[in-house]
Amino acid sequence: MGPLVSAALVLTLLDPAFLLTQDSRDLPTVERVPSLSVRFDPWRMNLTWDCGENTTSIQCGMTTRKKGPVTMRLKENQCHCTFPRAVLRGAPNFTVTANIGPRQVTQRLSYSNPGGQGTAAQNVSCLIYMADFMNCTWDKGPAAPDNVQYSLHIRDLRSGSRRECPRYLGDTGTTHVGCHLQGASAFGSEIYILVNGTSPSAGIQFFDDTLMLKKIEIYDPPDNITIECNASHCVLQWDTPRIRVFLSNWELQYQLDIHRQNSMQPSDHQLVDISGAWRNTYVFQKPLPRAKHAVRMRAADSRLLQWGPWSQPVEFGSGEWLSGAFFISMVILGTLACVLIFLYLFNR
Ligand SMILES: *[C@@H]1O[C@H](CO)[C@@H](O)[C@H](O)[C@H]1NC(C)=O
Ligand SMILES: *[C@@H]1O[C@H](CO)[C@@H](O)[C@H](O)[C@H]1NC(C)=O
Ligand SMILES: *[C@@H]1O[C@H](CO)[C@@H](O)[C@H](O)[C@H]1NC(C)=O
Ligand SMILES: *[C@@H]1O[C@H](CO)[C@@H](O)[C@H](O)[C@H]1NC(C)=O
Ligand SMILES: *[C@@H]1O[C@H](CO)[C@@H](O)[C@H](O)[C@H]1NC(C)=O
Ligand SMILES: *[C@@H]1O[C@H](CO)[C@@H](O)[C@H](O)[C@H]1NC(C)=O
Ligand SMILES: *[C@@H]1O[C@H](CO)[C@@H](O)[C@H](O)[C@H]1NC(C)=O
Ligand SMILES: *[C@@H]1O[C@H](CO)[C@@H](O)[C@H](O)[C@H]1NC(C)=O
Repeated sequence: MGPLVSAALVLTLLDPAFLLTQDSRDLPTVERVPSLSVRFDPWRMNLTWDCGENTTSIQCGMTTRKKGPVTMRLKENQCHCTFPRAVLRGAPNFTVTANIGPRQVTQRLSYSNPGGQGTAAQNVSCLIYMADFMNCTWDKGPAAPDNVQYSLHIRDLRSGSRRECPRYLGDTGTTHVGCHLQGASAFGSEIYILVNGTSPSAGIQFFDDTLMLKKIEIYDPPDNITIECNASHCVLQWDTPRIRVFLSNWELQYQLDIHRQNSMQPSDHQLVDISGAWRNTYVFQKPLPRAKHAVRMRAADSRLLQWGPWSQPVEFGSGEWLSGAFFISMVILGTLACVLIFLYLFNR
């Protein structure tokens, strides 16, 4: 993102008539204007400027169309400020205000997103699954030429480490429309993503955003699901699924789908929501053993309820006809019958 930065110098003389109303182009340029040489590093989201001996910094700010201006007061000798969650695709403006000697100077830096409207990747969305994998997908911008090529760059907001997508998912042609990566468990709670692009025939705008990983993670189904039934009840138990960061039981939610095996009819499916606080055990009344039953489970964060995939169904209650007391009495009856027939035949 090197050449995206262009600086505009705005000098507000201490004359209040010039304040706010004047743009840089209208200003008299009779005097040599002291410059702060404001620079912006998009990877560190770091705005820096030159602090001469007689410079006292006052404030820095960022203006976006969405959020308007956000300003920060500065320490006198502070010569940089960071906007860790900044999103740059809307071409924000940065400002630094400082006193250079007796004069107050506000310098503005416009960050641009060059390229045609509608050339940026669209509908960018990312998903974390199996605790360590991340998939991102996007659509080619409608105004982007067919020879566009996109790349995805990721920065971890906690460590500052960055990486490019190691494995792109291609469309029918060669345009990248997604990314698959492993190592998401090493990320902090938030990442910055940038999808930029090139094309020999047009300028391509970039798309960027910050993502809270908690909001894009889907959980594996619970592990080691077991079910044991007696004549009247069934006890279901399971292990907490693997999740990227530790969550207490209270923050987990499970859903059960108890159903007649192989039945698609909604009336044969009983959905049960269970809080993780129930310590991974659920006791329910055994369904009538007329048909085979099965149970499957899925998990989610209890506050977001973004359900993960279902587990494999676990069969239960099947063949219970022939088990337990019923099975034993059948065996006894059968044996008795055999003995009686044998005795009858033998005594004839
Ligand atoms: C921003 O840049 C300044 C000056 O180069 C440096 O001292 C500071 O550590 C940087 N901050 C970050 C968060 O990179
Ligand atoms: C800083 O200000 C002092 C007093 O106004 C002046 O003598 C000195 O030359 C200035 N230094 C610079 C680097 O402008
Ligand atoms: C940034 O400044 C330019 C020049 O004054 C202006 O046209 C543009 O709308 C500003 N952008 C934002 C996001 O405020
Ligand atoms: C992508 O997003 C645009 C709006 O930004 C929407 O009109 C379009 O239907 C979306 N495309 C897909 C494939 O979801
Ligand atoms: C993620 O992408 C990989 C590679 O294309 C694919 O095999 C997998 O099914 C995807 N997983 C999810 C949950 O989308
Ligand atoms: C996309 O951004 C990355 C990171 O700033 C940069 O290294 C790369 O050159 C950019 N690609 C294009 C096509 O601008
Ligand atoms: C599932 O059960 C097996 C055997 O008891 C155990 O080794 C394994 O660690 C369990 N899996 C999980 C995720 O707890
Ligand atoms: C069956 O299991 C349930 C739940 O564990 C228990 O409350 C009940 O007493 C048991 N019934 C029989 C007949 O063992």
